[in-house]
Amino acid sequence: MTGSQGNPMTIGWGLIGQIWGRPIFQVLVRPTRYSFSLLEALGEFTVCLPVDGHARALALCGEKSGRDLDKIAECGLSTAPSVHIGVPHIAECPVHFECRVIHVNDVINAGLDAEIVSQSYPKGDFHRIYYGQILGVYES
Ligand SMILES: Cc1cc2nc3c(=O)[nH]c(=O)nc-3n(C[C@H](O)[C@H](O)[C@H](O)COP(=O)(O)O)c2cc1C
Repeated sequence: MTGSQGNPMTIGWGLIGQIWGRPIFQVLVRPTRYSFSLLEALGEFTVCLPVDGHARALALCGEKSGRDLDKIAECGLSTAPSVHIGVPHIAECPVHFECRVIHVNDVINAGLDAEIVSQSYPKGDFHRIYYGQILGVYES
């Protein structure tokens, strides 16, 4: 989730690990997403883990853009304030990560496997990789 009001976006690509001695949640976001502009503006995000009953919400939040509708309301979900950052989390998710962006870099054509370029980037909309320092992980 990004934005101070909370715009949820379904993600499938991400990694958790340790870099620079810090716990990091890496997410990959295409520049065409509304979430991209919110991330660029605020530099913070939450990652909220779904449960079985969230299939419809996951589909809607992975198809519709927050530019066009309030996805939280549309999904019958609600937001709750986070502890460390201004971006809220989804109250109905059992676990959430609070992350502050400490680095970004872009996936580029050079050096990337040609099959991946043709399969994942036929329009040239390469992801930006956000390195979010995990400031806290909480149960709702
Ligand atoms: C299962 C699934 C996984 C997705 N993973 C990503 C992802 O990792 N990165 C990304 O940029 N878009 C991903 N998308 C697409 C976005 O969720 C989708 O474009 C969304 O509508 C963007 O919302 P926004 O414009 O409000 O940011 C995924 C979609 C689905 C259905």
